[in-house]
Amino acid sequence: MSTILRLQQVSKSYRSGGRDLRVLDDITFSVEAGSTLAIVGPSGSGKTTLLGLCAGLDRSTSGSVELHDTRLDELNEDQLAAVRNRYVGFIFQNFQLLPTLTALENVMVPLELRQEKNIRPRALELLDKVGLADRGHHYPAQLSGGEQQRVSLARAFSNQPRILFADEPTGNLDAETSEKVVKLLFDLNREAGTTLVLVTHDLDLAAKTQRILNMKGGKLISDES
Ligand SMILES: Nc1ncnc2c1ncn2[C@@H]1O[C@H](COP(=O)(O)OP(=O)(O)OP(=O)(O)O)[C@@H](O)[C@H]1O
Ligand SMILES: [Mg+2]
Repeated sequence: MSTILRLQQVSKSYRSGGRDLRVLDDITFSVEAGSTLAIVGPSGSGKTTLLGLCAGLDRSTSGSVELHDTRLDELNEDQLAAVRNRYVGFIFQNFQLLPTLTALENVMVPLELRQEKNIRPRALELLDKVGLADRGHHYPAQLSGGEQQRVSLARAFSNQPRILFADEPTGNLDAETSEKVVKLLFDLNREAGTTLVLVTHDLDLAAKTQRILNMKGGKLISDES
């Protein structure tokens, strides 16, 4: 097995009210390519911040983050964007769909960035996978929370990422839709070998992964397989 993600002594602080607030404190772990992992912990424990650092969306204050043999902390913004576009899928806790684009266009964005062919039919196929084939022309504001969640999932799948980060992927979904989304995530892991790193408050979902990291107050307090 090879390592796809390696964090060494990663810390992150924010300057807030004239003092440093340490949100992540000395985090070290590695993730095997093709594996599944859940990050759990109370609200405010640093899970979203950690995911953002792993995915190259944000930078650590100290320590190193290595994704796919590339030290993210040594890259400039353009290089980071290139690594993200090439290897990373991300499902945000608050979706982050582009409000001026339709559902279909949102899914097309990563494909366009990669200058791929047959973009529209492929994006339609992805929307169909998440059960939204008939919502392609809707703008995010015209979609329910769960529908936006699923568009965000289709978008994250579109560049066939080597590693997929999902922040509360089922947080806004009813039981039935949630089950479908979870199946899509784990199918992607099984069929395409996509490494899956998800943050969740749902312990049943966490239990479906091979490994669970538990965070508290910015620290990693347990790591169980
Ligand atoms: N830009 C920022 N400036 C200052 N503090 C921040 C900033 N972003 C996050 N924080 C703080 O960092 C801490 C961790 O936030 P984070 O979003 O990573 O938590 P979380 O574990 O994902 O929580 P939740 O389960 O509620 O989503 C919080 O206390 C938050 O207030
Ligand atoms: Mg969060």
